[in-house]
Amino acid sequence: MEKDLIILGIETSCDETAAAVVRNGKELLSNVVASQIESHKRFGGVVPELASRHHVEQITIVIEEALANAGISFKDIDGIAVTEGPGLVGALLVGVNAAKALAFAHQIPLVPVHHIAGHIYANRLVSELKFPLLSLVVSGGHTELVLMEKHGSFKVIGETLDDAAGEAYDKVARTLKLPYPGGPHIDRLAHEGKPVIDLPRAWLAEGSYDFSFSGLKSAVINTLHNAEQRGEIISQEDLAASFQASVIEVLTKKTLRAAKEFQVKQVLVAGGVAANKGLRAELESAFVKMPDIELVIPPLHLCTDNAAMIAAAGSVLFELGKRGKMDMNAYPGLDIENF
Ligand code: KG4
Ligand code: ZN
Repeated sequence: MEKDLIILGIETSCDETAAAVVRNGKELLSNVVASQIESHKRFGGVVPELASRHHVEQITIVIEEALANAGISFKDIDGIAVTEGPGLVGALLVGVNAAKALAFAHQIPLVPVHHIAGHIYANRLVSELKFPLLSLVVSGGHTELVLMEKHGSFKVIGETLDDAAGEAYDKVARTLKLPYPGGPHIDRLAHEGKPVIDLPRAWLAEGSYDFSFSGLKSAVINTLHNAEQRGEIISQEDLAASFQASVIEVLTKKTLRAAKEFQVKQVLVAGGVAANKGLRAELESAFVKMPDIELVIPPLHLCTDNAAMIAAAGSVLFELGKRGKMDMNAYPGLDIENF
């Protein structure tokens, strides 16, 4: 019998300090996430300097807890996978330096991981990947359609030209005076309202798989301001429902069209916005009519930032021979096609 592959994952690219242990790329042994949301909330968004400080405070505790929960020690670990980018540079550096120190002290190989590759590989903790596959990546910083022909190979066939989907959710939420991060609040309100307000859908050029959400965001803000100036009261629930309907329609239709064009076997959904109840339901009803394509959506705790996804991607990259050296750095603008 082959020996198990045990990978420790570390993630500190934004406002969650996370560590996790994954066995053989698919089996989650532990998953610890220390969220900083409470600290950033009063500023209405992530404060980079504050994020770095929290990561420094939490990183050792979180890693120790991940090992304890998995019932393993450093001698059992085959590789340490860590997010090298994209993200906030000061935040990334905390994870990268912790990983390097541990790798050096315990003589364990390092595996650098792209944050979005991590989000995509969260799906492998749910279902084995089948190629070719298409991944809809919808997070706070990214909105992309990524085509994968095989493990470790990522081709971006469409991406946002301005705001990411999550960013649009957070900005609209801020206008509605909802707490940060706004996505879950808009999602909740949307289910209490009706999509009766006419808002734009950015389809862009014929056949394009790119996205744009800044026009939609401005339309929501203008609708609110115009109503305020006229002394009218606009239903927050209806506005949230109308905004969410526009985002979901564009994401679902473009994903469906790309899945057909590239004849994929699987469609994966990745990133924080994949936690959106409306998006999950709409994708499920669209793909139920396409029995040849398997739709995979991770459970909520694997959609938002975590280290299980970094360990899952790291396991595959480890087997493909990818290693980081002791001069490894953090890359805030790392490209998923060439990392
Ligand atoms: O992937 P993620 O945790 O962090 C990044 O890598 O950016 O995504 C965070 C984003 C935030 O913009 C947050 O508002 C959004 O995901 N989000 C949601 C929901 N839950 C989280 N957006 C819409 N509906 C949700 N239920
Ligand atoms: Zn993320």
